[in-house]
Amino acid sequence: MTDDPARALSQETGARRKAGVEAMFDRIARRYDLLNHVLSGGTDILWRRRAVRELALKPGGLYLDLAAGTGDYAFTMLKREEACRVVALDLSQGMLSHMETKARDKGLGAKVLLVRGDAERLPLADASVDGVAIGYGIRNFPDKRQALLECGRVLKPGGRLAILELAGIPNPALRWLFGLYFRLVLPVVGRLVSGDSMAYTYLPASVERFPARGEFLDWMREAGLADARCVELSFGISSLFLGTRNQPQPSSTR
Ligand SMILES: C[S@@+](CC[C@H](N)C(=O)[O-])C[C@H]1O[C@@H](n2cnc3c(N)ncnc32)[C@H](O)[C@@H]1O
Repeated sequence: MTDDPARALSQETGARRKAGVEAMFDRIARRYDLLNHVLSGGTDILWRRRAVRELALKPGGLYLDLAAGTGDYAFTMLKREEACRVVALDLSQGMLSHMETKARDKGLGAKVLLVRGDAERLPLADASVDGVAIGYGIRNFPDKRQALLECGRVLKPGGRLAILELAGIPNPALRWLFGLYFRLVLPVVGRLVSGDSMAYTYLPASVERFPARGEFLDWMREAGLADARCVELSFGISSLFLGTRNQPQPSSTR
């Protein structure tokens, strides 16, 4: 156990973790975009663009942005392929409301469907979407394995999954340097800009608890995602996990 509420939340499980995470994102929703761009030096924009290329978006396709937050992953998709639609699902109504305003300002309101929901129980039919995007969300899910199973369930055969996450930096020297940034700079800037003392201490604590890449890729394969692999972006500061939903087994002709 720990006295640090951010670390305690990162160790929490089930409904208590979800309630804490939802409340935290509700509190920081207004300042989330600004902090994202400032704290990543704008590279988060490039990382989302890179991930969207891997989704191989099709005109007329329906895509799920899971843990959509304020919608930057969904908007990057719609910028690349205007003729697709996106279901944007998130636990936090505060983040979704912010996304709604942004969608309206961008004239994209008709192309996104906002859904308040839980990644571990998707309100979507089997094989109903052409691709799934998760941007910096899965780290927060108490049961990541269950969420991956849900992604596999709702993806059409051949549909792609592209997960961006801060999964821990593989290079020890860079990890050490980033550890300093995470412990000394990020919580202070995060608190000053968002006014929330916890969210930007929770972030490094949740990164520490992210599973090893090999284990996470095994969970993706269990969820029916063939060719599961991880591409390191900016020397592994961000990771991009990719997979394609298996085609169904050909049925026997006898
Ligand atoms: C760091 S934000 C990422 C937002 C956005 N995808 C992006 O790329 O900037 C994480 C989001 O995950 C959402 N989230 C956390 N747990 C969730 C869950 N179990 N189901 C759905 N959304 C969840 C939070 O509410 C928050 O909006």
